Amino acid sequence: MTNKSLVSITDYSKEKILSILDKAAAFEANPNQKILDGKVIATLFFEPSTRTRLSFETAVNRLGGRVIGFSDAATSSSSKGETLKDTIIMVSNYADLIVMRHPIEGAARYASEVSRVPIINARDGANQHPTQTMLDLYSIKKTQGTLENLSITMVGDLKYGRTVHSLLMAMSHFNPTFNFIAPNELKMPDEYKMFCKSKGIKFTELNELNEEAISDTDILYMTRVQKERFTDLFEYEKVKNVYTLKNKLLENTKENLRILHPLPRVTEIDADVDDNPKAYYFTQAKNGVFARQAVICDLLGLV
Ligand code: CP
Repeated sequence: MTNKSLVSITDYSKEKILSILDKAAAFEANPNQKILDGKVIATLFFEPSTRTRLSFETAVNRLGGRVIGFSDAATSSSSKGETLKDTIIMVSNYADLIVMRHPIEGAARYASEVSRVPIINARDGANQHPTQTMLDLYSIKKTQGTLENLSITMVGDLKYGRTVHSLLMAMSHFNPTFNFIAPNELKMPDEYKMFCKSKGIKFTELNELNEEAISDTDILYMTRVQKERFTDLFEYEKVKNVYTLKNKLLENTKENLRILHPLPRVTEIDADVDDNPKAYYFTQAKNGVFARQAVICDLLGLV
């Protein structure tokens, strides 16, 4: 069974991205409406979350819908061995739309094939997190006034970081210039560099995060080194503290530069940076409510 779902950011064309961003702006201007009155949205989180689950639930509550679901798979019958297929068929009997986070890559696509209602992928392992990309794009457009011709520096775990991979693919519509800063162990995978080459997108690769590396940058996208993606913890220990952004490094950067981070952060941004006007990551997370309101209503054909 197939339906209209959002599984990967590649499900969205450039026109669709821009249309959803316009809708998100309208929701930011007026976040409390009764558009979802009578609708039930299920949030099935088989992995932990703070921002994604709570911002989805806030998005639904502010639009007058109801939320069911679980934030811990141990409290669901999957802990008794119920398959994902059966879980999705059951929940699609109850809800009008399902938001799902699952540890297995491809789980969201599979769920979309067996569900009677739209699925929103709230992350499937190290694969895709398309609504994170939509809120990232919304944040970039809000802070820069455009998505076109921007210089974007991505820092940290560029190997396992699904948010940078999805952002790279989405920004490819808008003629970006990328700067990839990572230790050799966590470099941007070849498939994404090949993708850039195939689209004529300029990129550079560096190991060091220093003033020169970010002097032309509009968006500084920091990422966490994800301990949970390493099978060898010795390898994690080698790279876990490789970059820490400090205020000093930002002194000579462009006025319009904004620092984004999908969060949670660990040590990659000093707490002192939080008060810097260029720090945008907490507002970025807040923008998730509006971007998710737009995605939900679009999938349900309500705006
Ligand atoms: N950015 C993000 O997905 O955060 P959570 O894991 O807290 O949902």
